[in-house]
Amino acid sequence: MPTTLLVAFAAEFITREGPDYAIHSWIGIALVGVIALHLVGNARWIKHVWNRKRRHREFGLGVLNATFGAVVGVCIISGFPLWLEWSDAPAWATVHQVTGLASILLMFVHLWKNRTRLKGLVRPRARRV
Ligand code: HEM
Repeated sequence: MPTTLLVAFAAEFITREGPDYAIHSWIGIALVGVIALHLVGNARWIKHVWNRKRRHREFGLGVLNATFGAVVGVCIISGFPLWLEWSDAPAWATVHQVTGLASILLMFVHLWKNRTRLKGLVRPRARRV
């Protein structure tokens, strides 16, 4: 799942300057499903941190993750008026561009803060017999 997310975010970045915004837009829409699965997969951790709030040592990471999610959400939503030409207000492009670039940056911070967990996924500890 983290690999799919990483590939999808990289693809969004690569296709951000067109020429075909259909590919970029469909990958963005597919991201909604992948992010939903990622949240379901981590629901236990999310509930645990949410219930304990500041008493949980990883509350800061929870806040970062929630911010990341909100920024990605605004980015995906603001892509629609641009793609489907609902509005030609330049603000949509600004919002999409700023949240798009912020999403990519936050993705790296998210990966870095979860590096120990990621290492565990790449190289699971050998099972003792
Ligand atoms: C997390 C997902 C996404 C990221 C990180 C992202 C990121 C970006 C970035 C950085 C740009 C470059 C803007 C520029 O340099 O001018 C861009 C452009 C664009 N994106 Fe996205 N995007 C995402 C999802 C979507 C979705 C879901 C749609 C459509 C429903 C979409 C439609 C567009 C369009 C139409 C443009 C061209 C905007 C223009 O004409 O200035 N994007 N995107």
